[in-house]
Amino acid sequence: MPLPKAELHLHIEGTLEPELAFALAARNGIALPYADAEELRHKYRFSDLQSFLDLYYELMAVLRTEDDFADLAEAYLTRAAAQGVRHAEVFFDPQAHLARGVEMATVVDGLARALEGAPERHGVSTRLIMCFLRDESAESAAATLDAARPHLDHITGVGLDSAEVGHPPSKFREVYEKAANLGLRRVAHAGEEGPPAYITEALDVLGVERVDHGLRSVEDPDLVARLVRDRVPLTLCPLSNVRLRTVDVLADHPLRAMLEAGLMATVNSDDPAYFGGYADDNFHAVREALGLTDDQLRELARNSFLAAFLDDDEDLRKA
Ligand code: ADE
Ligand code: ZN
Repeated sequence: MPLPKAELHLHIEGTLEPELAFALAARNGIALPYADAEELRHKYRFSDLQSFLDLYYELMAVLRTEDDFADLAEAYLTRAAAQGVRHAEVFFDPQAHLARGVEMATVVDGLARALEGAPERHGVSTRLIMCFLRDESAESAAATLDAARPHLDHITGVGLDSAEVGHPPSKFREVYEKAANLGLRRVAHAGEEGPPAYITEALDVLGVERVDHGLRSVEDPDLVARLVRDRVPLTLCPLSNVRLRTVDVLADHPLRAMLEAGLMATVNSDDPAYFGGYADDNFHAVREALGLTDDQLRELARNSFLAAFLDDDEDLRKA
């Protein structure tokens, strides 16, 4: 039985398995430039974040209708539930869809249909977090927040993702301020490829409640001390870090040292279809590679529920 856990760093577009990509392409009359799912899977070799993002955005072309988004989310929930996920906070990238002529309502209604049925069908509660693409302009992010206004009953928070280096959190100060005024929770990717200073900016300028990745915090002892003192959750993604070559091999991952330093670490799958594993696969891999104890695995699971945007009456901690 996998440990019950919450997944807090998961891009729904990153759960698009090659077989589903081909099925959706066929349904929508789209030709993919790959012979079959197996050939496509062979492309899942990346040299850095950008080389992954290029394929991630290319394959989104198969997502066109409300049913496509619902089927994508349903496939994720089925896999996540089998891996012990009891609560999932799901990122999506509206700008990548709006730019292709897919409307916000198509995306949100499709995802919400699957997510809102998830407690009954899969025993998984959910939240939806809308991410801004940091390599797009601040004006585009603001327009995206405006486009989301009619759908905020389905959206819990905002996040920040895509190509990190050269796009510091401070670029998005105003839109995060607006989001906070709308009652939205705030998270941001920081310190995946970018420097520790981006983590500090995400906290100080954007007011984030959790840091997505936060991997490079370990380079700055003062920042580590602050994150420990303030119990700031970090949503680490170990298999992602290896596949995107921010860490050479899993045995070199700082997760164990981070736990031992008192950081509030969580383990997540990021883009599991691309990085070779869902939530429990990540737990399993770090246990093996880093020799984590059962207590440390339970701490990771406990942290995931403590760091979740759950209401007080939703106690899902069955660990
Ligand atoms: N979008 C999807 N996955 C991402 C990641 N790991 N980092 C930044 N942006 C992303
Ligand atoms: Zn991510």
